[in-house]
Amino acid sequence: MSRIIEFDDQRVKTNPADWYWREDVMRHERQNIFKKNWQLCARSAQLMNSGDYLVESIAGLPVILVRTEDGELKAYQNVCRHRAGVLSVESHNNCSRLRCIYHGWTYNLDGKLIKAPAIMQESGFDAEAFSLYPLLCESWNGLVFVNFNIKAESLGSWLGDIVGIMNEYPKLDNEFVFVREESKAINANWKSYADNSCEGYHLPLVHREMAAFMNTALTRIEAREGEYVHFDVTYRDDCQACWIYKYPNFLIACEKNYINIQSTDPLSPGTSRLRDYFWFSPECTEEQIQENLKASDLVTEEDRKICELVQKNLQTGVYSTGELSLTQEQGTRYFQQLVRRDIGEKVGQI
Ligand code: FES
Ligand SMILES: [Fe+2]
Repeated sequence: MSRIIEFDDQRVKTNPADWYWREDVMRHERQNIFKKNWQLCARSAQLMNSGDYLVESIAGLPVILVRTEDGELKAYQNVCRHRAGVLSVESHNNCSRLRCIYHGWTYNLDGKLIKAPAIMQESGFDAEAFSLYPLLCESWNGLVFVNFNIKAESLGSWLGDIVGIMNEYPKLDNEFVFVREESKAINANWKSYADNSCEGYHLPLVHREMAAFMNTALTRIEAREGEYVHFDVTYRDDCQACWIYKYPNFLIACEKNYINIQSTDPLSPGTSRLRDYFWFSPECTEEQIQENLKASDLVTEEDRKICELVQKNLQTGVYSTGELSLTQEQGTRYFQQLVRRDIGEKVGQI
C-alpha cells in the first residue's frame, strides 16, 4: 500500500466558498479535473453484445459507449463531426451503426465516418478526417470507465492500490450479485459532497444511527498517496468495513453483505448527480437486502441534507473560508489540497 500522507501541524484554511458556486470554477474543473481523471461511466453488464450502446453525460460532456463487432468497448464524445449534432437520444439500445439525428452522418462502431448524405460525393471531401473524437475506455471489476485525455495513464495505474484492496473482496457481477442502480440529483456542488465523504468528523451528529454501531476507537481514516482516502471501519459487532474515496469523485464502500459504488457528477455549480450501484452477497435473503439498502439510503439521505444546507450557506456570501481540524479532517484537507493543485492558479486563491 502506498504511503500515508503526513501533514504538518500548521492551521489550514478550507478552500474559498466561492469555488463552490462560481460558473468559471466549474469550467476549470471540467478542463483540469474531470477531463483528466478516469470517470465511471457504466457497468460492463449494460453492454454485453456487439452493437450495444449507451449514452451518458460526464460533467456535462456528452459520451457514447459502444461494444464493437470484435467485442471491444469503445467510447466517443457524442458530438457529430458535421455540425455537432448528437448520435442518439435514447439512453440505451443496440445498433450496427451510429447515426447522427441531424443530417444523418453515419459512423461505424469503430468511429469512422462511413456515410454522409450528398457531401460524401462532393469533391475534396475527406471522410477519413471526420472520425468521431475518441475517449479512452477501460473496464475493471464490472465497471466501465472513460478518460477524455487520450494520453492518460491506464485505468489500473490510476486506481493504484485500490486494485489490490478490492482483490480481497468478492468480484462484482461474479461473486456478488448486482441489485440496484440509482441516480439522484442533489442541490450541492460536487465538492461539498466530496468534502463530506472524506471525513468522519460529522458521523456522530449527522449519522446518529450508524455512529451508534461504530467502534470509533478502532476506526482509522488515512489519506494515502495515490489520491485516495481510506476508511478502515470497525463496528460494535466486530464486523469490518472498508470505504474508499478516490479523487476526484469515485467512492467504494465494502460492507459485510454488500458493495456500494458511488460517483458524484457535477451538473451545474450548485447541483450534482449522485450515482449509486449496489451488489450483494448471493447468500443474502431479500429481507436482508432491503434492510441493508434502507440503512444505506438513510446515510445517503443524511449526507444529502447536510450538504444541501452547507451549499446554501456557502452561497450567502457571509462565509468566505473556515478552518479544518488537523486530526479529524485530514481526508478533506487532502481532497481540498488536490483541488487547489488542479485549479488553484486558474481560479485565484484567496
Ligand atoms: S450535425 Fe450530424 S449530420 Fe449534421
Ligand atoms: Fe456522511
